[in-house]
Amino acid sequence: MKFFLDSADLNEIRQMADLGICDGVTTNPSLVAKSGMDFKSLLNEIVRLIPGPISAEVVGTTASEMLTEAEVLSKIHPNIVIKLPLTPEGLKACKALSARHIKTNVTLCFQAGQALLAAKCGATYISPFIGRLDDISQDGMALIREIRTIYNNYGYKTEILAASIRHPQHVIQSALSGADVVTCPMKVLTALYQHPLTDKGLVSFMEDWKKANQKPIA
Ligand code: G3P
Repeated sequence: MKFFLDSADLNEIRQMADLGICDGVTTNPSLVAKSGMDFKSLLNEIVRLIPGPISAEVVGTTASEMLTEAEVLSKIHPNIVIKLPLTPEGLKACKALSARHIKTNVTLCFQAGQALLAAKCGATYISPFIGRLDDISQDGMALIREIRTIYNNYGYKTEILAASIRHPQHVIQSALSGADVVTCPMKVLTALYQHPLTDKGLVSFMEDWKKANQKPIA
């Protein structure tokens, strides 16, 4: 399973690059706005830090505007993935970019029919928003399972990128449900490797080691 960081914060991206488990980054207009940076300068920095797919979202509303923006964004680096909204115009742009072998991430997916359409348009990734469905008392994880079944039934190569991840259980459930990628905010990725028994166990190992007066290992 691939792990992407859902962030436009360069400090967070640097930390994840150091940790070595970050396969890519997803951004969206809200995250970019929060960063306070110029979008293109930000993307130029991110591609230097993470040698994997970096999703950059268009803000145009017509296919023609989206394609013009996609052209500019794609020139920044070959790892840039064009993120498009799941609208008829977004799907039109997706089809055109797929025909030119430009990678796409179709975002704001809330039902399986939308994911089917994105796959038909050749999307590289589909982004179902798990947390936002849970927020309105719908079952976000059921959506991942439905998309997995549909894509398997027809052999669609579009990768399922579980997004809007709120907590570690979303990551585990996405993995169990067959998502190809999970994109997490920093706090979820950090929480994934934390367990009180790990900390407690380590303290007691160190104490026992000291008591035994062992020579240093190195
Ligand atoms: O990047 C898209 C997605 O992950 C947004 O998450 O937490 O704003 O619902 P959230």
